Amino acid sequence: MSGFPATEWIWANGEVVRWKDATLHVMSHVVHYGSSVFEGMRCYATKQGPMFFRYAEHMQRLRESAAIHRMTYTYTDEELADAIRELIDRNGLTKGAYVRPIVLRGIGAAGVDPMGSPVHVYLVVWEWGAYLGPDALEKGVSAGVSSWFRPAPNTHPTMAKAGGNYLNSSLMKIEAHNNGYDEAIGLSVDGLVSEGSGQNIFLVKNGELYTPEIDGTFLQGITRDSVIRIAEDLGLTVHESRIPREALYVADEIFFVGTASEVTPVRSVDKWDIGSGKRGPITTRIQEHFMAVARGEAPDRHGWLTSAAVSRRGEGGSARAKKTGVGA
Ligand SMILES: Cc1ncc(COP(=O)(O)O)c(C=O)c1O
Repeated sequence: MSGFPATEWIWANGEVVRWKDATLHVMSHVVHYGSSVFEGMRCYATKQGPMFFRYAEHMQRLRESAAIHRMTYTYTDEELADAIRELIDRNGLTKGAYVRPIVLRGIGAAGVDPMGSPVHVYLVVWEWGAYLGPDALEKGVSAGVSSWFRPAPNTHPTMAKAGGNYLNSSLMKIEAHNNGYDEAIGLSVDGLVSEGSGQNIFLVKNGELYTPEIDGTFLQGITRDSVIRIAEDLGLTVHESRIPREALYVADEIFFVGTASEVTPVRSVDKWDIGSGKRGPITTRIQEHFMAVARGEAPDRHGWLTSAAVSRRGEGGSARAKKTGVGA
């Protein structure tokens, strides 16, 4: 990622403030110890108006990530939805938006124990195109297996989408770029395929899909779940299983999935072409179907879309949300 376009407004603890004013004290707990949890969700422009993709699941994961790290906040999902709708509208993001809710520990205690530091909630939205570059969705990306392993299940919990977890992702990404790859593939400490630095992974072999079974080493992606269901809708068999590293090199197709990455083909791993070295036919089918559902061009049979249009009746939502305050 090469920076993001600053928008005008950010929602900070119930108030809409200017981008430049959404600042934190350097002694905030999160700065020292990575004590934040966050979400990444997309809002797509559809013919039916702006739509959040899987709003309920993203907000449930935010709440659960917070719970794992013993953080609570009192805003309801509906209050946050109203605040996000208003923020997208005020920032004029008519072509769709990437939505980043953040729950973090502010300034309180100086030591590691987070419980003495207050919990703050922020909402940020901006326009974010193809995460892995403009050509990635069509031409695919190169990936390298990382020498950094994903966290073991009994270290820091990967079920939580927590800021601190991303130090591992950052090391993977730095190494990948230094070695000339677009993206990294992380292995578990057992040496099995886990995930990318910010995406889950699928392999295609003999017309069937394989993705790592939930083993406590990767984030349980909402796109991963969507792709499993889409593949099943398309009549494809999906295996959630243990995947050895070498399966990567003999896969017919590989693709990454995630909110930011959507469905991105992987054209090579460790400088070895996967299949034809181009986006494969099953990847293309999944990608097209996923995008059609997200953009409201295919029936929303699983009820994944929620309107992101501002209801004028809901104006003042942030003022109402402010009254509820933040949890500690
Ligand atoms: C480490 C990691 N794995 C997987 C994913 C994919 O998750 P989701 O599909 O819910 O965005 C993400 C992105 O959020 C991620 O950061």
